[in-house]
This record gives sequence, C-alpha cells and structure tokens, in this order.
Amino acid sequence: MKLAFPLVLTFAVVSAHYTFPSFIYNGVTTEPWLYNRRTNNYWSQAPVTDVKSIDLRCYTSITGATASTLSVTAGSKLGIQTDGSIFHPGVVNIYMAKAPGNVTSWDGSGAVWFKVYEISAVTDDGSSITFPSEGLPSVTFTIPKALPSGQYLVRTEAIALHSASSFGGAQFYVGCGQISVTGGGNRTPKPLVSIPGLYTGNEPGILINIYWPIPTSYVQPGPAVWRG
Ligand SMILES: *[C@@H]1O[C@H](CO)[C@@H](O)[C@H](O)[C@H]1NC(C)=O
Repeated sequence: MKLAFPLVLTFAVVSAHYTFPSFIYNGVTTEPWLYNRRTNNYWSQAPVTDVKSIDLRCYTSITGATASTLSVTAGSKLGIQTDGSIFHPGVVNIYMAKAPGNVTSWDGSGAVWFKVYEISAVTDDGSSITFPSEGLPSVTFTIPKALPSGQYLVRTEAIALHSASSFGGAQFYVGCGQISVTGGGNRTPKPLVSIPGLYTGNEPGILINIYWPIPTSYVQPGPAVWRG
C-alpha cells in the first residue's frame, strides 16, 4: 500500500509530457517515428531545459536518429501530431532549415533555421493571459508557397511556461521531421538563426511568471515568422 501513492504520482507526471512522433498530411497521420526523428525522450517524454544544449535542436543526441523523408507540395498544409496533447500553458514555434543535400544525413548545424509558424500567448493589459496552444493534440501550418523546392528539416518547439519564473524553468518539447518540398517558389527565407544559439534563457517570453502579476503583454521567443 505504501507504494501506491508514488506510483500514481509518477504516472501523472509522465503522462503530462509529450513528443512529436508524426506528421499529418493529406488527412493521414504518419506512423510514429517514420518521418520524424526519434527523440531521446520517446519513452520518458521529458523536456529539454538547457537552451544551450545541442538537444534543443532535434533532441537526438542519444538516439542518433534519422528518418524517412515525406514528400509535400509548397502551399499545402502540414500537421505535427503529439503523442497526447500539448499539455501545458505555453507557446509554440515551428522552424524549418534547408538541407544542403540529402536531409537524411544532415544535422541542421549553422545559421540555417527560419520560423514558419507560431502560436503565442494572448494578453489584455493585465487582466488575463491565455495560451491557445494549451491542450492541442496537433499543430498545423501552411508550407509557404514561395519556399524553394528541396529537402528540409521541420522542427517543432512547444515551450511550457508553468514553471518558467526561475532561470532554466521553461520546458522545451522539441522534435525534427524530414520533408521534401516540391512545386516551390524562389524567395529566400529569413532571418536565419542557429539552434542552439537563438535563445539565452533570459528572454522575456522564456523567463516569465505567467501567474502573478498577470503579464500585461507577452513577447514571443525567436525571430519573426517568415511568410514567404
Ligand atoms: C537520402 O539518403 C537515404 C539514406 O542513405 C536514402 O535512403 C535516400 O534514398 C536518399 N534520398 C535521396 C532523395 O537521395
């Protein structure tokens, strides 16, 4: 009987965390970890909390995983499916980076990442703050029509802010998938950032008490979204 409470507690903690194992494309949810690189936390679902860690990028330092590459057309919608839901109050960013060759053998190093989508917080001058991504089972964005054709990494980042009031308290749930874009355009995505490197951990949208005093505004971490 003495074990019952710790076991229940452990289960509750683990089930509150999440990974991004699948894409959703043309109404089909892809097999887990087929097109998405299996992350270190595929069993624990534990977050990254050190923004300087190489694991902030694709979280594959232990698995060393690569994946197959999903073929998609520019201008179409691509979803990213969790293994549960984005359980916490927080925000979402989706970044992409173009591989110089075959994305399967590329690690995404260098100042190569641009942001294609974000779900921020909603504030109203201090009477409330809400997080539209909280509880979502998946996130869907449009691959910019103007994006050049080629092979890309797609990196999803959900930043959980429930314990972000002290340095290192924000929890980063991240993962990378591989896509090959056809029918693209000829614009140049920008600005480009390195991951890790883009965050210090002191950003007002990362080191923040979301509960009290209720923030009057919220600054989304990372560069502006490139919309093509
Ligand atoms: C990329 O490399 C993988 C692994 O070697 C291979 O299976 C795949 O066919 C390559 N893709 C392209 C488009 O060359």
